[in-house]
Amino acid sequence: IYRKTAPTSLPAFLLIGPSGAGKTALLTLLERGNPSPTHTSQAPLSVEITLPSDTAAASNKYRSASDPTAQKNSRFLLIDTPGHGKLRHFASAQLVAPQNLKGIIYLVDAANLSSDSAGVSGSSSSGLTEAAEYLHDILLALQKRYTNTKTSKGPGETPVLIAANKMDLFTALPAPLVKAALEAEITRVRDTRAKGLLDSGIGMDEDGDREERDWLGDGGEGKFTFKQMEEVNVVVEVKGGNVVGGQGGEVGEWWEWISRQL
Ligand code: GTP
Ligand code: MG
Repeated sequence: IYRKTAPTSLPAFLLIGPSGAGKTALLTLLERGNPSPTHTSQAPLSVEITLPSDTAAASNKYRSASDPTAQKNSRFLLIDTPGHGKLRHFASAQLVAPQNLKGIIYLVDAANLSSDSAGVSGSSSSGLTEAAEYLHDILLALQKRYTNTKTSKGPGETPVLIAANKMDLFTALPAPLVKAALEAEITRVRDTRAKGLLDSGIGMDEDGDREERDWLGDGGEGKFTFKQMEEVNVVVEVKGGNVVGGQGGEVGEWWEWISRQL
């Protein structure tokens, strides 16, 4: 059913996130209108999606519906990637692949992030840590892509949607709390990574100072916030939804975000 190679001219969105977040379920929902049963993914999967007619793409706002370009602009490519820790090279490869990348959708299971689910007070859950580590690495890759580009123009803006999924579950954190939890945990990940590099002597210059290259966001020692990513042209938004439950899920805010990037 799926084409292996799709026309590269279509705007593309990359679907990334930990295993079990619901990436493939979201892909089947957006493609068919209802989610199909999934297995954990072992390879990337690209499908062509057409925006529902009630979500007009931002660039179509002033075009009439009969305009043929309006049709074209509502189509895009969605690239699903496996979330398993050993298969993340597929996602990294897509980040640098020559394509018309319009944005990144980082899907997380919002019901698997609460910090008390590990049982030990003060320690964070493995779900939160995994989600923050993976997101840290993706954002760092985008930051490096920006800082390594020598041309004055640099890569264009990279919008990142953090899609807080599984809002149908009562244990799910609301989107503002997902944002706060991920920012706090990325702050910890960043410190841990820096300390690891320090201990090994890697990542320091001759004077023993920490190299800024592998430090995500602001150079300071304070808290990491997604806002800091705007310095490197990465705009992060966090929006809640659910793929399963309700009539065809609750994905309106995500559709709206996608249509704004088209
Ligand atoms: P990998 O392929 O391993 O990276 O995982 P994935 O992110 O593709 O997860 P997948 O789409 O396979 O979904 C994992 C499970 O979560 C499935 O059983 C889905 O039915 C379930 N799921 C996805 N979205 C939701 C949701 O919004 N609510 C609930 N309750 N379950 C969901
Ligand atoms: Mg999958």
